[in-house]
Amino acid sequence: MGGDDDWRVAGCRPEDIHDDPGSYWDEERIARFSRAKGQWKLQKRIAERAIAHFLEEDPKGLQHMTGSPIALDIGCGTGASSALLVENGCKTIAIDVIPAMLEYCFKDRSMVAMRHRGMLHALLASATAIPIRKERIDFAFSISALQWLRSDREKEAFIKDLHSCIHQDGGLAFQFYPRSRESAIKFGMRLKHAGFTGGIFIDNPRNPKKRKVFFGMIKRK
Ligand SMILES: C[S@@+](CC[C@H](N)C(=O)[O-])C[C@H]1O[C@@H](n2cnc3c(N)ncnc32)[C@H](O)[C@@H]1O
Repeated sequence: MGGDDDWRVAGCRPEDIHDDPGSYWDEERIARFSRAKGQWKLQKRIAERAIAHFLEEDPKGLQHMTGSPIALDIGCGTGASSALLVENGCKTIAIDVIPAMLEYCFKDRSMVAMRHRGMLHALLASATAIPIRKERIDFAFSISALQWLRSDREKEAFIKDLHSCIHQDGGLAFQFYPRSRESAIKFGMRLKHAGFTGGIFIDNPRNPKKRKVFFGMIKRK
């Protein structure tokens, strides 16, 4: 394994130059992101990998969660990751901090159908103040969003709320873009200190453009 240098990416990361996701995700970027079919497919493929890695940690995965498991999609954006959760049989609560992102969940025809079937609920809320009661969630999910939690305070607030809303033996599957190997490991340690067990999975570790970092964990006593 090399040092952190091999995690450098060409150019700046949006979260390095924008104070908050709302100042990066302006109307034009959101419109581009939501229109690009390739982007939607890419986000779904990443979400599929996140579920696959979670199943490496917990082979019975979502099946042992009775009925329709309740999933929380944190930083749902225009809904690609939430749609995959619904396709996997999860009743999904999708949260995002940007109202214009959530609007797409309300506009898109297939997302509207999911909402009408009671399979999708979209809420304006932040990862750092999750408005979900204790032990309600079977499965927490987040794709390409958590790199926006930059300070220790934000990460701690997130993990505290996350731990509270997932019930015992519930799971989590996350993918995001840590700045370095060290920060990925630190984030994993924070989750473990909070009471989760599991691991970090890295696809294409040696290719900075294709590298994807995943966390697959389960809440234990
Ligand atoms: C690149 S989009 C990914 C959207 C979706 N998960 C997907 O895979 O298509 C990242 C999203 O994370 C959201 N986000 C960033 N920080 C957040 C926070 N603190 N709480 C909730 N959502 C956040 C942004 O608003 C943005 O919609």
